[in-house]
Amino acid sequence: MTTTLAGRPLLGGAEIARAVAMVRPYSMVPDASLVELGWQVAAVLAADVPGHFVECGVWRGGASFLMAALLREAGVRDRTVWLCDSFEGLPPPADIDGPSARRYAEERSSPRYRDNCRAGLDDVRESAGRLGLLSHVEFVKGWFDRTLPGLPARVGDVAILRVDADWYASVRTCLEHLYDAVAEGGLVVFDDYYAFEGCAVAVHQFLAERRLPHRLESVVGDGDAWDGYQAAVFRKSPLTWRLMRRRHQAILDIAAAVPAGASLLVVDEQQLALPGLPFPAHEGLYAGPPADDAAAIEALERARAGGAHFLAVAWPAFWWMEFFAGFARHLRATATCIAGTDRVMVFDLRRAL
Ligand SMILES: C[S@@+](CC[C@H](N)C(=O)[O-])C[C@H]1O[C@@H](n2cnc3c(N)ncnc32)[C@H](O)[C@@H]1O
Repeated sequence: MTTTLAGRPLLGGAEIARAVAMVRPYSMVPDASLVELGWQVAAVLAADVPGHFVECGVWRGGASFLMAALLREAGVRDRTVWLCDSFEGLPPPADIDGPSARRYAEERSSPRYRDNCRAGLDDVRESAGRLGLLSHVEFVKGWFDRTLPGLPARVGDVAILRVDADWYASVRTCLEHLYDAVAEGGLVVFDDYYAFEGCAVAVHQFLAERRLPHRLESVVGDGDAWDGYQAAVFRKSPLTWRLMRRRHQAILDIAAAVPAGASLLVVDEQQLALPGLPFPAHEGLYAGPPADDAAAIEALERARAGGAHFLAVAWPAFWWMEFFAGFARHLRATATCIAGTDRVMVFDLRRAL
């Protein structure tokens, strides 16, 4: 049973690892990228970014199945994973795709060739059925220049767009037709950004032509063909994917330590919108950092007398624990630190050491 917080599903490492193991036979995407995709699904659900999940370039379906398995795990019925592919393999690469693309297309006996990434729709649908995922997926068969122009009208908002279509022309087509459907706060992932030159050129060209300021972030794994770089992602938001991921993990840290429904104070300087009551608060709103140790201690004791049971300090406010050294000493003397990670410290205000 998935943990929930304020009615939203909270998926974590255990659920993601189980789903990755399940879809492993159906994907050529390395484990680290699949795990990252799992965190992307988890964070989007927890942050309630609106929209569906779209993968362009699905081969046997593995990465799409991962997203669908996590939707099933979380009990989410109002989002669907859209699987877009020719289901006939890759079109030929062009010069702009670079030497590694040319080598890929020429070396047909290489284990990487995989029959030109061909997997038939019937086989992929059968696999989805075998995994019990059919009610979470929709198939869109055909070449992208035919199928993608009409897709936003069918899908609506997109929370995660995963582009795994190798070549320049395919990646550009995906961006041209689907970028605008990506919701604010949503994620766009490029599986081949490091693998093939054409993919990187398509991404940069599109962002430059539209004057979009999205920052590309790398997905890094252990030793792989591109020295560990496995994919790139940008978030359609001034705030990065890394921040979104850490925020989600901080929520998991808190949820593991604090019983559901308990009264929780949160010190995050309003940078993370963590669930809980802001501390210190004035009429329910964050009042800004306290003037000094005495003001912080007074606010804490007032909140404790008012029924607050837990206090979580998140990393944007870690400096408090040094700057307000008197407050930190008081907190440690009158509460028990029940969780401490590089993201969050949680104190139980009910029990003194
Ligand atoms: C590398 S594979 C995808 C791998 C997959 N995501 C996984 O989890 O293993 C690339 C896929 O993109 C599809 N593809 C590439 N360009 C396309 C286009 N222009 N139209 C339709 N499908 C395309 C190919 O058919 C192939 O299945």
